[in-house]
Amino acid sequence: MKLSVPKETAAGEQRVATVPDAVQKLSAAGVEVLVDPGAGEASHVPDAAFTEAGAKVEAGAGFSGDVVAKVGPPSREEIGRLSEGSVLIGFLQPLTNGETAKALAGAGVTSFAMEAIPRITRAQSMDALSSQATVAGYRAALITAQELGRFLPMLTTAAGTIRPAKVLVLGAGVAGLQAIATARRLGAVLSAFDVRSAVEEQIKSLGAKFVKLDIGLENAEDAGGYARALTDEEQQRQREALADVIAQMDGVISTAAVPGRRAPLLIIEDAVKRMKPGSVIVDLAAETGGNCELTESGKTVIAHDVKIIGPENLASSMPDHASQLYAKNVQSLLGLMVDEEGALKLDFDDEIIAGACITRDGEIVHEGAKKAAGVATEGNG
Ligand code: NAI
Repeated sequence: MKLSVPKETAAGEQRVATVPDAVQKLSAAGVEVLVDPGAGEASHVPDAAFTEAGAKVEAGAGFSGDVVAKVGPPSREEIGRLSEGSVLIGFLQPLTNGETAKALAGAGVTSFAMEAIPRITRAQSMDALSSQATVAGYRAALITAQELGRFLPMLTTAAGTIRPAKVLVLGAGVAGLQAIATARRLGAVLSAFDVRSAVEEQIKSLGAKFVKLDIGLENAEDAGGYARALTDEEQQRQREALADVIAQMDGVISTAAVPGRRAPLLIIEDAVKRMKPGSVIVDLAAETGGNCELTESGKTVIAHDVKIIGPENLASSMPDHASQLYAKNVQSLLGLMVDEEGALKLDFDDEIIAGACITRDGEIVHEGAKKAAGVATEGNG
């Protein structure tokens, strides 16, 4: 099997889908790896390092393989470069980007979305949502520390005692838990809130306080372990109760998300207004609508003397390790796709292969992607 890895072309995308260590392992498994020149430049992997690891680096290599591994979704132009019957792996945004799924089906490409890999134990090493959320959560804590005009830790100095900063994390999934751990290491006093009550123990084990809102909402976890969408009334109660908590904070890191939907609105303007001047909000949900009412994606807004930061593609801002982790995720998935001789062999009876598959034989096969593309789903005939 030939695996090709293109240079990412989306604006601001600094990651790459493979790194030399993964190339070495894939080569040992009989996979021939082809890499676009400069593909690793933004994540500080020189072409020579890929060559040394056993990859072929040459112009046009990025789309020449039987399997193409990317980070972000392909552009129209890139889909045009994929040959019929080839395999594409990447973050394809199946639940929201119906146009890409349609175009991939139309091009006869067999595509696999990293987001759609079932989150089962066997697939943990392939879980790119988690690996990239880990990076984003870490960065969010650092941004909070950087942007606050205050210390995070408590300090006792000759010039007086500094009280530690209070930081609230909204949404304690992978990114939120990493933000808690990182801000704690920097000395802040942490609290966290999530609608899934299962995370209470995880929040506490990281040394943070679990915020319980007295709004009569027990647990809002769906069967797949994700948060379910709350009713309008539940959301309203939640926002008002949260405003009282937020008002006490120096920093808020919000990461709340419901897959395939607009991010829940958790921080209303009144909550921002009640924060101390100079406080900071880092809204990791900016790209999907924002957890804060005042967030503008990709921008920093100052309102009521509070800085509201809406970073986009935060994982890409730490490309070296983000690429390293992502490359391992891709390598693990490929491990399921090749036989002992290194030949491509897709077993659609495997729940990981079947679950991650978005398009196949000219059709969109993933239910969520069908919905996003406006194609009839099993449920509605
Ligand atoms: P995510 O990025 O989809 O959401 C982030 C967090 O926001 C979640 O914890 C969610 O409960 C929370 N949230 C949603 N609506 C909210 C609201 N209105 N108010 C407050 N919080 C809200 O989540 P992520 O990080 O992708 O993880 C989701 C689940 O997947 C978790 O249960 C996690 O433990 C599980 N998981 C399982 C893995 C496995 O291998 N079994 C691997 C990784 C994650």
